[in-house]
Amino acid sequence: MYVKQFDLTYNDYMEETIFINGGRKLVGEVSVNASKNAFLPIMAGCILCDEQVCLKNYVHISDLALMREILGQLNVSSVLSGRELVLDMSKLQNNKLSHVLTQKMRASIFLLGPMLARFRSAVIAYPGGCKIGTRPIDIHIKSFKSLGAKIIEKHGYLFCNGENLKAGEVTLDFPSVGATESLMMCCVLLKGRSVLKNVAKEPEIVDLEKFLQKMGAKISGAGGDCIVIDGVDKLHGCDFSVMPDRVVAGTYILAVATCGGDALIDGAIAEHNETLLAFLRQSACNIDIEHDKIRIRVGNRLPSIDKIQTMPYPHFPTDLQSQMLVLQSVCKGNCVLKENLFESRFGIVPELIKMGANIVLNGNTAYIQGVEDLFGADVFATDLRAGAGLIIAGLKAEGYTTIHNPFYIDRGYEDIEQKLRYLGAEIKRREI
Ligand code: EPZ
Repeated sequence: MYVKQFDLTYNDYMEETIFINGGRKLVGEVSVNASKNAFLPIMAGCILCDEQVCLKNYVHISDLALMREILGQLNVSSVLSGRELVLDMSKLQNNKLSHVLTQKMRASIFLLGPMLARFRSAVIAYPGGCKIGTRPIDIHIKSFKSLGAKIIEKHGYLFCNGENLKAGEVTLDFPSVGATESLMMCCVLLKGRSVLKNVAKEPEIVDLEKFLQKMGAKISGAGGDCIVIDGVDKLHGCDFSVMPDRVVAGTYILAVATCGGDALIDGAIAEHNETLLAFLRQSACNIDIEHDKIRIRVGNRLPSIDKIQTMPYPHFPTDLQSQMLVLQSVCKGNCVLKENLFESRFGIVPELIKMGANIVLNGNTAYIQGVEDLFGADVFATDLRAGAGLIIAGLKAEGYTTIHNPFYIDRGYEDIEQKLRYLGAEIKRREI
């Protein structure tokens, strides 16, 4: 039975606003927690064994709280003390995963692979997640079918029969992060050799591979074009520390670049944000790397970057697109920013225009003319990263900004107001 250990219920995250008095430089030090997008597939991967797994550096964000509840539906008990999360799979059951929880988060689909691996069957409702596009799961489904799974889609559910699942070769139509991860977690328990091609290369994939290896899986190649897996009969429990969150680190770096200041981002792996750091160095930011610390110093208003487009890793990440768009909206000059991964990930733009930004959208391209100042306003978060971008805009803007729907931001940022107060920001959370 799932034992809720948090003082915050899911609804607690709902009824609040974030209030900012902007126009100050950001100076100080902020630490980065573990990566949401690594933690979620790793939590799903825990069901590949029937023992205990201890994840050492848990992050208090609602997506992880939700994943605990979803695992609870499979009779996984989880106990949190401090940042140490112990999950117990000894009483795991192959229960149906209803839409009630799965439709709240994209990551629920990551359970399909491990469920097929463990039970050779699964009934799981379609996933949900931030409204940044249609977010189909056709690549997931096509890949599992190519390994012998029978999947019927009906009434918003996937009815999956994996009795004939066999190790084999799969080439993904597109390097989907989630499909890569779900496939990895299925093939580790399929007898024989599986070869996954045209896979995603994100650092989170590499971290998942490290976790699976610690559980006893025979898997290699993550981070490259091809992952090779030799299936084993059984995996065992382990202790594991998840990699730092490169998107959270990039968000704080872009906040300093936008507002000006001098900040040390502690616990960040610079090579995970190489493209971002290269763009910022090109814009005359002072960036110093000291082991797992990134120091960024920014004086005056930065020049625009002419062209930016989002692409799979190691190119510029879609998860920093909204935050980068805010920076470009106050730079000197013009920027053309193209979003190639998701078809509607410009939810922040109408809110930024309310604050004085000069942005014109045409399809998946934003044409930005940098303005000297933004002005505080009442704005509405539409998704996780747009919400983070609005915080940056509020920190930069003259006057007061109120951000509604901060529950989107709580999906992926632990205590962001306190962390920004460490950098000198005037920001707080208040009841509506
Ligand atoms: C993961 O989502 C991340 N989420 C996203 O982060 C991130 O933006 C995305 O990867 C890309 O890097 C988690 O890891 C929990 P994809 P995922 O499958 O796996 C299309 C955040 O803000 N596609 O790589 O859903 C899809 O529509 C979130 O933290 C299909 O067409 O991303 C998109 O256009 C947002 N069919 C593109 O591929 C499929 O079956 C990339 O999607 C699967 C994906």
